[in-house]
Parts: sequence; structure tokens; C-alpha cells
Amino acid sequence: MKKTPTLARYAGSLPPEGAVPSWGGPAMKRKARNLALALVAAIGFGAVLPPASMAQAVQSIRGADVAAQELQVGNYRPIPDQAPIERDYVQQPPLIPHKVEGYEVTINFNKCMDCHAWSRYKETGATKVSLTHFKDRDGGELSNISPRRYFCMQCHVPQTDAKPLVANTFQRAQGLR
Ligand code: HEC
Ligand code: HEC
Repeated sequence: MKKTPTLARYAGSLPPEGAVPSWGGPAMKRKARNLALALVAAIGFGAVLPPASMAQAVQSIRGADVAAQELQVGNYRPIPDQAPIERDYVQQPPLIPHKVEGYEVTINFNKCMDCHAWSRYKETGATKVSLTHFKDRDGGELSNISPRRYFCMQCHVPQTDAKPLVANTFQRAQGLR
């Protein structure tokens, strides 16, 4: 697709020549207008439109106004607790097959490790955290979860009943089919 040059795109939003009383002759008016155009082009969109109308023009993929209040939590139902969800490629952080609401992960306490730690998994029936989660960033082996892996939900995500935002043709990796 051909892109409209920036200046031409904004030219329409400026008053036509002569519409605004000015202090000089036609030549100076032209100069002033060119200067205005250059300014608009330099400063960009924000200079032309007031913030409110700009926000309305920008929508989230689900069609919500980005300036509107955030959606209330609890709009989507978490999937019911279930058996581990099959992985789509071998390096994938497994999806979380259970609710995580209220599971605290703070500087003092990691609720996930309450069940997933090697010292706890047998009694809780959870999968023990992977051996890879004990490596620090220099490759050193630790006896407890590495700081790099402390915030589990950086990588592992719980699932809800939300519809996919956009269609896609993703397929499970060849080796796992
Ligand atoms: C009350 C115990 C408990 C807590 C707390 C808990 N889990 Fe689990 N989790 C389980 C159990 C049990 C399973 C396995 C379900 C099964 O095998 O049927 C599981 C499964 C998983 C799996 C899937 C493992 C796989 O091999 O596919 C992931 C990932 C996971 N949990 C992450 C987390 C994260 C992240 C947290 C913290 C936000 C967390 N869990 C907190 C009990 C717990
Ligand atoms: C930086 C990303 C990352 C973080 C943070 C992370 N994980 Fe993982 N996790 C992975 C990946 C990738 C895998 C799959 C490959 C592997 O085993 O290392 C995995 C695997 C797992 C497994 C499956 C192990 C198995 O034997 O199949 C469990 C359970 C798990 N993680 C739990 C956790 C918990 C609990 C935390 C927080 C304390 C956590 N992870 C933090 C990326 C992460």
C-alpha cells in the first residue's frame, strides 16, 4: 500500500489560506502556513487533536476505548481445575491448569512453591518445579528456586474461557504431533 506523505495527511486539518486574519501579505501568509505545516509534521498527531478525541480513535482489540476504566476483574471464568494441559512445543512453560486467585507471591512467601517445591510436591500431588529452575544466571546450581524463576507467572499463565482475540493458524510442533 502507498503511504500518504505526512504533510498531505495533515494539510486538511489546517484552515485554508486566507481564512485566518494575518499580519502580512500573501507571501508572508504562505510562509506562515508552511511554517505551521512543518510544525505540525514535526510535533505530530498530538499537536493537532486534543487528547480526548485521540483516545476515542484508539481502541483495544476487543473494541474497548483505551481511555475507559479498566475492565473489572472476574470478567472471564478461570477454567476448572484439571489435569496438566498438553504442551505445544517442548520448551514451553506448561500452562497452569488450576485457579491461582489469591495465590500470593511476595518477597517473603511464594504460594506456588507451597505445592510445587521438591519438598512439598509428594504430599500435594503437584508437579515438582523443573531442575532448570534452580540455575542462577551464571549457570550456578542452587538448592532452592532461582531468583530468575521466582515470579512464576512471568512464564506460566492460568487459563480462562476467553475467546481468542484473533484467528491464527498456530500448530503444535512437529515433534509433539
Ligand atoms: C494447593 C497446591 C497448589 C498451589 C498453591 C499451586 N499449584 Fe500448580 N499445580 C498443583 C497440582 C496438584 C497440579 C497438577 C494437577 C494434576 O496433575 O492433575 C498443578 C499443576 C501446575 C502446572 C502444570 C504442570 C505441568 O506439568 O503441566 C503449573 C505450570 C502450575 N501448577 C503452576 C503453578 C503456579 C505458577 C502456581 C502459583 C501461582 C501454582 N501452580 C500454585 C497444585 C498447586
Ligand atoms: C523465566 C520463565 C519461568 C519462570 C519464571 C518459571 N518457570 Fe516453570 N518452567 C518454565 C519453562 C520454560 C518450563 C519447561 C522447560 C523446563 O522444564 O525448564 C517450566 C517448567 C515448569 C514445570 C514443569 C516441570 C516438569 O517436570 O515438567 C513446573 C511445575 C514449573 N515450571 C513450575 C514453576 C513455578 C512454581 C515457578 C515459580 C516458582 C516457575 N515455574 C517459574 C519457565 C519458567
